[in-house]
Amino acid sequence: MSEIAFVNGKFVPLAEARIPVEDRGHQFGDGVYEVVYAFDGVPFALEEHLDRFFSSMAMIRLNCPYTRAEVTDLIHEALRRSGYQNAVIYYHLTRGTAPRGHAFPPPSVPGNLVITVREGTTLPDEIAEKGVTAHLVQDLRWGRCNIKSLNLLPNVLAKQEALDHNAFEAILCKDGYITEGSVSNVFIVSQGQVRTAPADQKILPGITRMHVLELCRELGIPVTEKAFTPEELYGADEAFLTASGIDVLPVIRVDDKVINGGLVGPGSLKLRKEYRNLIAKRCLAI
Ligand SMILES: Cc1ncc(COP(=O)(O)O)c(C=O)c1O
Repeated sequence: MSEIAFVNGKFVPLAEARIPVEDRGHQFGDGVYEVVYAFDGVPFALEEHLDRFFSSMAMIRLNCPYTRAEVTDLIHEALRRSGYQNAVIYYHLTRGTAPRGHAFPPPSVPGNLVITVREGTTLPDEIAEKGVTAHLVQDLRWGRCNIKSLNLLPNVLAKQEALDHNAFEAILCKDGYITEGSVSNVFIVSQGQVRTAPADQKILPGITRMHVLELCRELGIPVTEKAFTPEELYGADEAFLTASGIDVLPVIRVDDKVINGGLVGPGSLKLRKEYRNLIAKRCLAI
């Protein structure tokens, strides 16, 4: 088993992978990306991630030099070559390599597809059962957060600010409303109702978010996609984060505001269990 990369049209050991200096992803963050987790050798929700990948590309007028079927095959091949059963697959497409300049390069310049595969780690259940803490950070990002773009500086700064406050995640707040986390979507549960911000241009439409909303509908749990304020978050019965790799992760405190007396609530745990079952159903050979 070994970490692998697909770069410049070839598979190479990840440690040996190199990108050209004038790759536009490197110089401008001019590209889009995805992160997919594989379990038992099966990438979870790959189709949904590819849908978002191609939709992000369309929104920044980026053409993929590969068809969707070819990207799918390359991802499977990278996973197979890595030998990892549980893996984290990262892939991105940039607007290619060209002399530095803000204008798009000519259409003859192909985009650069990079895929990396590393061993996947899942968050231990003990952490989810105890819940994590969060730190409220002003959301300083641009107006198109629905695009999964390579420009992640505000997210990086927010995450680090949370870590500097001994919190697990930064919860972002814009114009008085919670948008999402630095690498996650944010939910609350109040009086049996699950609520999260709507999938507009202020948030990334998380694949995990989408699955959790579907699970709620299947389970008959009322859901609303309506933004909430920090006060509504602090006063909620439960709060949780969703993202690939953390699944459904309860939040028990935001800065000094303790949620539900610091106890993980039954709604979050039920949704976590159902979400893990969905992964098992789709990926695990049991
Ligand atoms: C800003 C942001 N929101 C939400 C998510 C969750 O998305 P997903 O559930 O597709 O992993 C991520 C994941 O990286 C993210 O970066």
